[in-house]
Parts: sequence; C-alpha cells; structure tokens
Amino acid sequence: MPSMVLRNAHILDPSEGLDLAGCLAIRDGLIAYVGEERRDAEAAAGPAAISVDAGGLLLTPGLIDMHVHFREPGNEAEETIASGALAAVAGGFTSVVAMANTEPAADNESAIIFTRRESRRAGYANVFPVGTVTAGREGRELAEMAQMARGGAVAYSDDGASVPTAGLLRRALSYAKMLGKPILEHCEDKSLLADGEVDEGYMSTSLGLGGIPGECEEIIVARDVAMARLTGGHVHIQHVSTAKAVEVIRRAKAEGIRVTAEVTPHHLALTSDCLREYDPVFKVSPPLREREDVEACRRGLKEGVIDAIATDHAPHLDDEKELEFTYAPSGMIGLETAVGVISTALVRSGLFSWAEIIPALTSRPSGILKLGRGRLAAGLPGDLTLIDPLRAWTVEPERFHSRSRNCPFRGWKLEGGAVLTVVGGAALFDPDGRAGEKSPPPH
Ligand code: DOR
Repeated sequence: MPSMVLRNAHILDPSEGLDLAGCLAIRDGLIAYVGEERRDAEAAAGPAAISVDAGGLLLTPGLIDMHVHFREPGNEAEETIASGALAAVAGGFTSVVAMANTEPAADNESAIIFTRRESRRAGYANVFPVGTVTAGREGRELAEMAQMARGGAVAYSDDGASVPTAGLLRRALSYAKMLGKPILEHCEDKSLLADGEVDEGYMSTSLGLGGIPGECEEIIVARDVAMARLTGGHVHIQHVSTAKAVEVIRRAKAEGIRVTAEVTPHHLALTSDCLREYDPVFKVSPPLREREDVEACRRGLKEGVIDAIATDHAPHLDDEKELEFTYAPSGMIGLETAVGVISTALVRSGLFSWAEIIPALTSRPSGILKLGRGRLAAGLPGDLTLIDPLRAWTVEPERFHSRSRNCPFRGWKLEGGAVLTVVGGAALFDPDGRAGEKSPPPH
C-alpha cells in the first residue's frame, strides 16, 4: 500500500477546522498525519514514502461527486465504469456515486456488486453504486432494497424520473430508513413535464419549445419533504434548479425534516439564455433556468440550504446529441470541468471562498451517504485533491478522458483546476509529474 508525504501545502478542510500551511502524510493508504511539522509527517509516513512538493497549492480532502451516470451495462460507447472513473480522477474526484439508470437498470444485488467490482478493477476513483427505488426503474413496485444494501448500494434512486406516487415513496422511505440510507429524488412532476423541453418563460416562448414551469420541481419537492416528515426517512433532493424548490427545502430544514439537497455546476453557472441557438448540448433535465433561479441556488448553497455540489455527469454520444433539439437526449458531462467552472464562476468572481465550497464537495456528500471519507483525519483513506486555484486553461472536450464530448463549456477560459488526485495514497492523476511519472499519459 502506497505511502506519501505532501509538503508545502495549503491544507484546507473546514469540516476539521483546518486552514494551514503544512504537511500531510499517508501511510499504507491511510492518512497518518496532518499538521505543520515536516519531520513529524515524514516519521508518520515511514521510510518508503514518496515526497511531493505541493507548491503552496490548495490541498483538500479527495473530492466526492455524489451524482454521476456511467453507462455500463448498456451504453458502453458513451461511458464505462473505467472511463468514467478515469474522467473523475482527471477532474479531481476521488469518489463518485453512480446512478442506477443503466440498461438494464441497477435494481438487484448482482448489478450493485458488478459496479463495485469494475470500480476496483479499474483502479481510478472509487465508484459507489446506487440501486433503483423501483423494480426495473418502472415506478410500479419497490426493488429489492435490502439485498442491494447487502451488495453495497449506498442509496436508492430512480434518477431520470421521480418515484411516481406518494404512496410508493412512503414505503420506499420507510424501508430505506430501516436500512440507514437516503432516497435520492429527481424532482419533476410527470404530468406538468408533459412535452416540456426547456424552462417555461421567455425562452420557451421565443424558441417555440415546450416549457417546464418551476412548479414541476416544486410540487415533487414539497411532496417528498411531506413523506420524509411522515416516515422519518431521509430524502435527498437531486439537482435543485429553481428558487421555488430552494424555498421549500429551506422551510423543511427549519422544521427539522430529514432533507438534504445538491445543485450542479451547470445550474450554478448557466442560464436558459444559452438556448438561443437551439444547441442540444444545453438540453438537460431539469432544464437550465432564469437568472433569479441561478441566484437562488447560489444563495441556497451559501446558506447551507443546499448541502452539496454534484455534477450529474450524463454522457451522450455526438450522433445522438446532435439531433434536432426535440429528439436529442437530456444531459451534459461535468466531471472534468467541475473544479474549473466552480473556481471561475463562484470563487474567482468573489461570490464564494474555497472554505465555503470545499465541504459541498467533500464532507457533506460523504456525510449524506455515510461514505466515511471527505475529511483530512488520521485513519481515513488517503484520498486527496491538490487544486491550483489560478491554473488557466481552455475547455477542449477532445482532450477529456470521458468517452463523451457533450460539454456545455466548450471554449470557456477557466481559472482553477485539479493538478494532482490521490486515491488511497496512490497518485492517479498527476499531469505535471509532481509525484513521479506524469499520469495518466497526455492525449
Ligand atoms: O439530463 C439528465 N440526464 N438528467 C437526468 O436526470 C438523467 C440524465 C441521463 O441519464 O442522461
């Protein structure tokens, strides 16, 4: 098991009260020392450790993305577990949580075990599987939730669609509570979604495309928090996109209901104005919203109403995505742009400090899913991300490690990026060769 000393680092982990210039040691894959003393770090790491100069950059707990779509089994040309896990480390993520809308859906124990096995075999980011709430993701009866927990599912979700009825969700939350896991909900009311494709408002009218009102999300969020209140179960609201939903979550939290929430970088950085050219790369579910919604999501994140940032990395092939808007699938990739987009749109712009951002990418998603990571504490897995907050780069999807190119930030000039990703003490993304050979090899 690898051992490493990172010296000359700006160590930042608000969950542990850490904001200092110092060193971090990993011994046999586990964090062994965090503090100011180089000599103590070297002693803790042991004689076989490699030594890395962090160059004064930001050293944080390994980033965790609690919402990704890998397409294995079923659509491996778009993304496999291995290609997605490689894209994750290239974006600075040491752990990701894979949704269950594969083909077939991950609705049984062996599907969950398969994902974990492929994750270990790939040896990049840790991939934690989510199981479906309903059998086949068909919204009719509950899936084998207890067996999936035994196989290692960290949560349940029919993401891509909501659990269709309050009755089914009530039962799912009761079971999930017994199993100590949350239900992750995609909040869109099917009857209001109808043939909607973009945010309902100025853009839907001017483009002549079907609108999706904010109420479509708000109604399901309200239903879900009511079911969490009734059952005492934990509901987690995925990819919040509207001011209305933020307000429902705020009130539910104030009431003490077990609700948590996430927001994506694209819902924090883009508005429905991007749709002017009818480019399907901006088609996503839930849709990009108006400026007031983006601002409400940012405020919700700032105030802790929204707990986590998650990418909703949703790979699609060009020949599918480049259809007419109506026929193109929803979704955008996000693993390899998240840190740069967050850094540029939220931190460099002066809206957030890194200390406000890092918990949303580390300790909070870990806490929601009980992953036992996301903090720089002795004895935890040696998962780390080194961020250069000023690194200037241009988004060129052709250079990504993901198998798909459906990136809405093509051509953006970003400031900030991950420059070293360490998983279990091993440097798996090291483009500058700080910890030895440059890896993975450049394209
Ligand atoms: O835009 C989306 N694409 N939203 C989802 O919830 C699912 C995802 C996908 O799987 O492509």
